[in-house]
Amino acid sequence: MKGIVLAGGSGTRLYPTTLAVSKQLMPVYDKPTVYYPISVLMLSGITDILIISSPADLPQFRRLLGDGSELGVSFSYAEQEQPKGLAEALLIGADHIGDDSVALVLGDNLFHGPGLSPLLQKNARDVDGCVLFGYQVSDPERYGVGEVDEQGRLLSIEEKPALPRSNRAITGLYFYSNDVVDVAKNIKPSPRGELEITDVNLAYLAEGRARLVDLRRGYTWLDTGTPQALLAASQFVGIMESRQRVRIACLEEISLRMGFIDADACHRLGERLATSEYGRYVMEVARAWGPPSAAVAGAVS
Ligand code: DAU
Repeated sequence: MKGIVLAGGSGTRLYPTTLAVSKQLMPVYDKPTVYYPISVLMLSGITDILIISSPADLPQFRRLLGDGSELGVSFSYAEQEQPKGLAEALLIGADHIGDDSVALVLGDNLFHGPGLSPLLQKNARDVDGCVLFGYQVSDPERYGVGEVDEQGRLLSIEEKPALPRSNRAITGLYFYSNDVVDVAKNIKPSPRGELEITDVNLAYLAEGRARLVDLRRGYTWLDTGTPQALLAASQFVGIMESRQRVRIACLEEISLRMGFIDADACHRLGERLATSEYGRYVMEVARAWGPPSAAVAGAVS
Protein backbone atom coordinates (compact mmCIF):
# COMPACT_ATOMS: atom_id res chain seq x y z
CA MET A 1 0.00 0.00 0.00
CA LYS A 2 1.24 3.49 -0.89
CA GLY A 3 0.71 6.55 1.32
CA ILE A 4 -0.29 10.11 0.55
CA VAL A 5 -0.27 13.01 3.01
CA LEU A 6 -2.30 15.97 1.82
CA ALA A 7 -0.74 19.00 3.44
CA GLY A 8 -1.88 21.91 1.30
CA GLY A 9 -4.72 24.37 1.65
CA SER A 10 -4.38 27.91 2.86
CA GLY A 11 -5.12 27.49 6.56
CA THR A 12 -7.20 30.67 6.54
CA ARG A 13 -8.79 29.89 9.90
CA LEU A 14 -5.34 30.23 11.44
CA TYR A 15 -4.57 33.64 9.89
CA PRO A 16 -2.33 35.55 10.54
CA THR A 17 -0.23 32.62 11.82
CA THR A 18 -0.40 30.80 8.50
CA LEU A 19 0.20 33.82 6.27
CA ALA A 20 3.85 32.83 5.92
CA VAL A 21 4.04 29.26 7.27
CA SER A 22 2.04 26.18 6.34
CA LYS A 23 -0.49 25.01 8.92
CA GLN A 24 0.94 21.50 8.77
CA LEU A 25 4.35 22.82 9.81
CA MET A 26 3.01 24.51 12.95
CA PRO A 27 4.07 22.69 16.09
CA VAL A 28 1.68 20.43 17.92
CA TYR A 29 3.52 20.59 21.23
CA ASP A 30 7.02 19.34 20.38
CA LYS A 31 6.98 18.48 16.69
CA PRO A 32 5.52 19.71 13.40
CA THR A 33 1.88 18.83 12.79
CA VAL A 34 2.72 16.77 9.69
CA TYR A 35 4.61 14.25 11.84
CA TYR A 36 1.30 13.00 13.22
CA PRO A 37 -0.31 11.91 9.91
CA ILE A 38 3.03 10.57 8.66
CA SER A 39 3.24 8.47 11.81
CA VAL A 40 -0.20 7.02 11.05
CA LEU A 41 0.95 5.85 7.62
CA MET A 42 4.15 4.37 9.03
CA LEU A 43 2.19 2.58 11.76
CA SER A 44 0.04 1.11 8.98
CA GLY A 45 3.23 -0.42 7.60
CA ILE A 46 3.55 2.02 4.70
CA THR A 47 7.04 3.12 3.66
CA ASP A 48 6.41 4.84 0.32
CA ILE A 49 4.86 8.21 1.05
CA LEU A 50 3.97 11.15 -1.18
CA ILE A 51 3.65 14.55 0.48
CA ILE A 52 1.40 16.99 -1.38
CA SER A 53 1.41 20.69 -0.59
CA SER A 54 1.19 24.09 -2.24
CA PRO A 55 4.06 25.24 -4.50
CA ALA A 56 4.98 27.88 -1.89
CA ASP A 57 5.10 25.47 1.05
CA LEU A 58 6.49 22.31 -0.53
CA PRO A 59 10.19 23.34 -0.23
CA GLN A 60 9.81 23.60 3.56
CA PHE A 61 8.42 20.07 3.74
CA ARG A 62 11.39 18.82 1.72
CA ARG A 63 13.74 20.65 4.05
CA LEU A 64 12.08 19.11 7.09
CA LEU A 65 11.70 15.54 5.85
CA GLY A 66 14.23 14.97 3.05
CA ASP A 67 13.94 11.77 1.05
CA GLY A 68 13.10 9.65 4.10
CA SER A 69 16.03 7.27 3.63
CA GLU A 70 17.37 7.97 7.13
CA LEU A 71 14.05 6.77 8.50
CA GLY A 72 14.08 3.73 6.24
CA VAL A 73 11.17 5.08 4.21
CA SER A 74 10.74 7.05 0.99
CA PHE A 75 9.30 10.55 0.91
CA SER A 76 8.46 12.08 -2.45
CA TYR A 77 6.76 15.39 -3.13
CA ALA A 78 4.13 16.85 -5.43
CA GLU A 79 2.48 20.22 -5.77
CA GLN A 80 -1.18 21.04 -5.55
CA GLU A 81 -1.45 24.34 -7.42
CA GLN A 82 -4.69 25.41 -5.74
CA PRO A 83 -6.70 23.82 -2.92
CA LYS A 84 -9.20 22.21 -5.30
CA GLY A 85 -10.35 19.51 -2.92
CA LEU A 86 -9.12 16.50 -1.02
CA ALA A 87 -9.93 14.07 -3.82
CA GLU A 88 -7.52 15.89 -6.13
CA ALA A 89 -4.72 14.31 -4.07
CA LEU A 90 -5.66 10.97 -5.65
CA LEU A 91 -5.24 12.41 -9.15
CA ILE A 92 -1.99 14.20 -8.31
CA GLY A 93 -0.78 10.97 -6.72
CA ALA A 94 -1.91 8.64 -9.55
CA ASP A 95 1.64 7.78 -10.69
CA HIS A 96 2.74 7.30 -7.11
CA ILE A 97 -0.16 4.91 -6.49
CA GLY A 98 0.72 2.95 -9.64
CA ASP A 99 -0.96 -0.44 -9.38
CA ASP A 100 -1.09 -0.47 -5.58
CA SER A 101 -3.74 0.36 -3.00
CA VAL A 102 -3.41 3.68 -1.18
CA ALA A 103 -3.90 5.34 2.18
CA LEU A 104 -4.70 9.05 2.09
CA VAL A 105 -4.34 11.04 5.29
CA LEU A 106 -4.97 14.73 5.89
CA GLY A 107 -1.92 16.63 7.03
CA ASP A 108 -3.65 18.14 10.06
CA ASN A 109 -5.16 14.97 11.57
CA LEU A 110 -3.84 13.39 14.77
CA PHE A 111 -4.71 9.82 15.78
CA HIS A 112 -3.67 8.12 18.98
CA GLY A 113 -4.78 5.07 20.90
CA PRO A 114 -4.06 1.56 22.12
CA GLY A 115 -3.45 -0.99 19.39
CA LEU A 116 -3.70 1.62 16.64
CA SER A 117 -0.91 0.06 14.60
CA PRO A 118 -2.37 -3.49 14.44
CA LEU A 119 -5.82 -2.04 13.76
CA LEU A 120 -4.47 -0.02 10.85
CA GLN A 121 -2.37 -2.89 9.50
CA LYS A 122 -5.31 -5.27 9.62
CA ASN A 123 -7.53 -2.86 7.70
CA ALA A 124 -4.81 -1.97 5.20
CA ARG A 125 -4.74 -5.57 3.97
CA ASP A 126 -6.82 -6.52 0.93
CA VAL A 127 -8.83 -3.31 0.71
CA ASP A 128 -11.71 -3.67 -1.71
CA GLY A 129 -13.29 -0.26 -2.22
CA CYS A 130 -12.76 2.09 0.71
CA VAL A 131 -12.16 1.77 4.41
CA LEU A 132 -13.17 4.83 6.43
CA PHE A 133 -12.54 5.48 10.09
CA GLY A 134 -15.38 6.86 12.21
CA TYR A 135 -15.10 8.74 15.46
CA GLN A 136 -17.82 9.98 17.79
CA VAL A 137 -17.75 13.76 18.16
CA SER A 138 -19.92 16.38 19.82
CA ASP A 139 -19.99 18.59 16.70
CA PRO A 140 -20.59 16.27 13.71
CA GLU A 141 -21.88 19.12 11.54
CA ARG A 142 -18.23 20.21 11.08
CA TYR A 143 -17.27 16.96 9.35
CA GLY A 144 -18.20 14.25 6.92
CA VAL A 145 -20.79 12.22 8.84
CA GLY A 146 -21.46 8.50 8.53
CA GLU A 147 -24.74 6.84 9.43
CA VAL A 148 -24.58 3.15 10.31
CA ASP A 149 -27.14 0.43 11.03
CA GLU A 150 -27.19 -1.80 14.13
CA GLN A 151 -24.59 -4.11 12.59
CA GLY A 152 -22.29 -1.13 12.06
CA ARG A 153 -22.84 -1.20 8.27
CA LEU A 154 -22.51 2.16 6.60
CA LEU A 155 -25.83 3.51 5.30
CA SER A 156 -25.06 7.09 4.31
CA ILE A 157 -22.32 9.70 4.26
CA GLU A 158 -23.00 13.42 4.26
CA GLU A 159 -20.49 16.24 4.09
CA LYS A 160 -21.02 18.81 6.86
CA PRO A 161 -24.79 18.26 7.14
CA ALA A 162 -26.83 20.95 8.93
CA LEU A 163 -28.80 18.17 10.62
CA PRO A 164 -26.41 15.24 11.11
CA ARG A 165 -27.99 11.79 11.16
CA SER A 166 -25.41 10.56 13.65
CA ASN A 167 -22.54 11.85 15.73
CA ARG A 168 -20.00 9.72 13.87
CA ALA A 169 -17.49 11.90 12.03
CA ILE A 170 -15.55 10.42 9.13
CA THR A 171 -11.94 11.12 10.02
CA GLY A 172 -9.26 12.25 7.60
CA LEU A 173 -7.77 8.81 6.99
CA TYR A 174 -8.95 6.82 3.99
CA PHE A 175 -7.81 3.44 2.65
CA TYR A 176 -8.64 2.74 -1.00
CA SER A 177 -8.18 -0.03 -3.49
CA ASN A 178 -6.36 0.75 -6.73
CA ASP A 179 -9.48 1.74 -8.67
CA VAL A 180 -9.78 4.93 -6.60
CA VAL A 181 -7.91 6.90 -9.25
CA ASP A 182 -10.65 6.07 -11.76
CA VAL A 183 -13.33 6.85 -9.21
CA ALA A 184 -11.72 10.24 -8.47
CA LYS A 185 -11.47 10.99 -12.20
CA ASN A 186 -15.20 10.53 -12.55
CA ILE A 187 -16.51 12.72 -9.76
CA LYS A 188 -17.77 16.23 -10.49
CA PRO A 189 -16.54 19.33 -8.64
CA SER A 190 -18.82 20.56 -5.84
CA PRO A 191 -20.53 23.96 -6.05
CA ARG A 192 -17.39 25.30 -4.30
CA GLY A 193 -15.36 23.97 -7.25
CA GLU A 194 -13.69 21.26 -5.14
CA LEU A 195 -13.30 17.53 -5.75
CA GLU A 196 -14.83 16.32 -2.50
CA ILE A 197 -13.51 13.17 -0.88
CA THR A 198 -17.05 12.47 0.33
CA ASP A 199 -18.12 12.06 -3.31
CA VAL A 200 -15.40 9.43 -3.83
CA ASN A 201 -16.60 7.63 -0.71
CA LEU A 202 -20.23 7.89 -1.84
CA ALA A 203 -19.32 6.23 -5.15
CA TYR A 204 -17.98 3.24 -3.23
CA LEU A 205 -20.97 3.27 -0.88
CA ALA A 206 -23.30 3.06 -3.89
CA GLU A 207 -21.43 -0.08 -4.99
CA GLY A 208 -21.60 -1.58 -1.49
CA ARG A 209 -17.81 -1.32 -1.22
CA ALA A 210 -17.46 1.20 1.64
CA ARG A 211 -16.61 0.03 5.13
CA LEU A 212 -16.53 2.07 8.32
CA VAL A 213 -14.17 1.11 11.13
CA ASP A 214 -15.13 2.65 14.42
CA LEU A 215 -12.39 4.24 16.48
CA ARG A 216 -13.97 3.64 19.84
CA ARG A 217 -13.59 5.25 23.24
CA GLY A 218 -9.97 5.19 24.21
CA TYR A 219 -8.86 6.48 20.86
CA THR A 220 -8.12 10.12 20.26
CA TRP A 221 -8.77 11.90 16.99
CA LEU A 222 -8.04 15.60 16.72
CA ASP A 223 -7.48 18.10 13.96
CA THR A 224 -5.73 21.42 14.15
CA GLY A 225 -7.73 23.71 11.89
CA THR A 226 -8.38 26.54 14.37
CA PRO A 227 -6.30 28.21 17.10
CA GLN A 228 -8.41 26.45 19.75
CA ALA A 229 -8.02 23.06 18.08
CA LEU A 230 -4.27 23.57 17.67
CA LEU A 231 -3.93 24.49 21.34
CA ALA A 232 -6.08 21.52 22.42
CA ALA A 233 -3.94 19.14 20.34
CA SER A 234 -0.75 20.58 21.84
CA GLN A 235 -2.14 20.28 25.35
CA PHE A 236 -3.20 16.70 24.74
CA VAL A 237 0.21 15.67 23.41
CA GLY A 238 2.01 17.65 26.12
CA ILE A 239 0.02 16.03 28.90
CA MET A 240 0.38 12.50 27.51
CA GLU A 241 4.09 12.86 26.83
CA SER A 242 5.07 14.37 30.15
CA ARG A 243 2.83 12.10 32.22
CA GLN A 244 4.04 8.86 30.65
CA ARG A 245 7.42 9.92 29.34
CA VAL A 246 6.61 8.48 25.92
CA ARG A 247 6.29 10.38 22.68
CA ILE A 248 3.39 10.44 20.27
CA ALA A 249 4.34 10.42 16.58
CA CYS A 250 8.08 10.22 17.14
CA LEU A 251 9.01 9.13 13.61
CA GLU A 252 12.46 7.83 14.56
CA GLU A 253 11.00 5.60 17.29
CA ILE A 254 8.26 4.34 14.97
CA SER A 255 10.84 3.48 12.30
CA LEU A 256 12.79 1.52 14.86
CA ARG A 257 9.77 -0.33 16.23
CA MET A 258 8.44 -1.08 12.74
CA GLY A 259 11.83 -2.51 11.74
CA PHE A 260 12.54 0.17 9.10
CA ILE A 261 15.84 1.10 10.80
CA ASP A 262 18.06 -0.46 13.45
CA ALA A 263 19.00 0.92 16.84
CA ASP A 264 22.30 2.37 15.62
CA ALA A 265 20.59 4.37 12.89
CA CYS A 266 17.93 5.53 15.34
CA HIS A 267 20.58 6.65 17.80
CA ARG A 268 22.38 8.64 15.14
CA LEU A 269 19.14 10.43 14.27
CA GLY A 270 18.68 11.32 17.93
CA GLU A 271 22.23 12.64 18.25
CA ARG A 272 21.52 15.31 15.66
CA LEU A 273 18.63 16.60 17.73
CA ALA A 274 20.36 16.08 21.07
CA THR A 275 19.90 19.69 22.16
CA SER A 276 16.16 18.99 22.47
CA GLU A 277 14.23 16.68 24.77
CA TYR A 278 12.91 15.04 21.62
CA GLY A 279 16.39 14.16 20.41
CA ARG A 280 17.44 12.83 23.79
CA TYR A 281 14.32 10.69 23.87
CA VAL A 282 15.19 9.21 20.46
CA MET A 283 18.65 8.29 21.76
CA GLU A 284 17.16 6.77 24.91
CA VAL A 285 14.73 4.67 22.89
CA ALA A 286 17.57 3.44 20.68
CA ARG A 287 19.71 2.52 23.68
CA ALA A 288 16.85 0.68 25.37
CA TRP A 289 16.06 -1.23 22.18
CA GLY A 290 19.04 -3.53 22.41
CA PRO A 291 22.63 -3.78 23.47
CA PRO A 292 24.39 -0.87 21.80
CA SER A 293 26.75 -1.76 19.03
CA ALA A 294 30.34 -0.52 19.08
CA ALA A 295 29.33 2.44 16.93
CA VAL A 296 26.63 3.61 19.31
CA ALA A 297 28.70 2.87 22.41
CA GLY A 298 31.45 5.01 20.91
CA ALA A 299 29.09 7.83 20.24
CA VAL A 300 27.67 7.74 23.75
CA SER A 301 30.92 7.63 25.67
O1 DAU B 1 -10.73 16.22 9.17
C1 DAU B 1 -11.70 15.34 8.65
C2 DAU B 1 -12.62 16.05 7.67
O2 DAU B 1 -11.78 16.53 6.60
C3 DAU B 1 -13.68 15.10 7.10
O3 DAU B 1 -14.59 14.75 8.12
C4 DAU B 1 -14.44 15.76 5.96
O4 DAU B 1 -15.32 14.84 5.40
C5 DAU B 1 -13.46 16.25 4.90
O5 DAU B 1 -14.13 16.93 3.86
C6 DAU B 1 -12.46 17.18 5.53
O6 DAU B 1 -13.14 18.32 6.01
P1 DAU B 1 -12.38 19.69 6.34
O7 DAU B 1 -13.37 20.78 6.51
O8 DAU B 1 -11.44 19.47 7.47
O9 DAU B 1 -11.56 19.91 5.02
P2 DAU B 1 -10.59 21.08 4.72
O10 DAU B 1 -11.07 21.77 3.49
O11 DAU B 1 -10.34 21.92 5.93
O12 DAU B 1 -9.23 20.33 4.36
C7 DAU B 1 -8.63 19.40 5.23
C8 DAU B 1 -7.12 19.51 5.12
O13 DAU B 1 -6.66 19.30 3.81
C9 DAU B 1 -6.61 20.87 5.52
O14 DAU B 1 -5.47 20.65 6.34
C10 DAU B 1 -6.21 21.55 4.25
C11 DAU B 1 -5.93 20.42 3.34
N1 DAU B 1 -6.36 20.68 1.96
C12 DAU B 1 -7.66 21.00 1.74
C13 DAU B 1 -8.10 21.19 0.46
C14 DAU B 1 -9.56 21.50 0.19
C15 DAU B 1 -5.47 20.56 0.93
O15 DAU B 1 -4.27 20.26 1.16
N2 DAU B 1 -5.90 20.74 -0.34
C16 DAU B 1 -7.19 21.04 -0.62
O16 DAU B 1 -7.52 21.19 -1.81
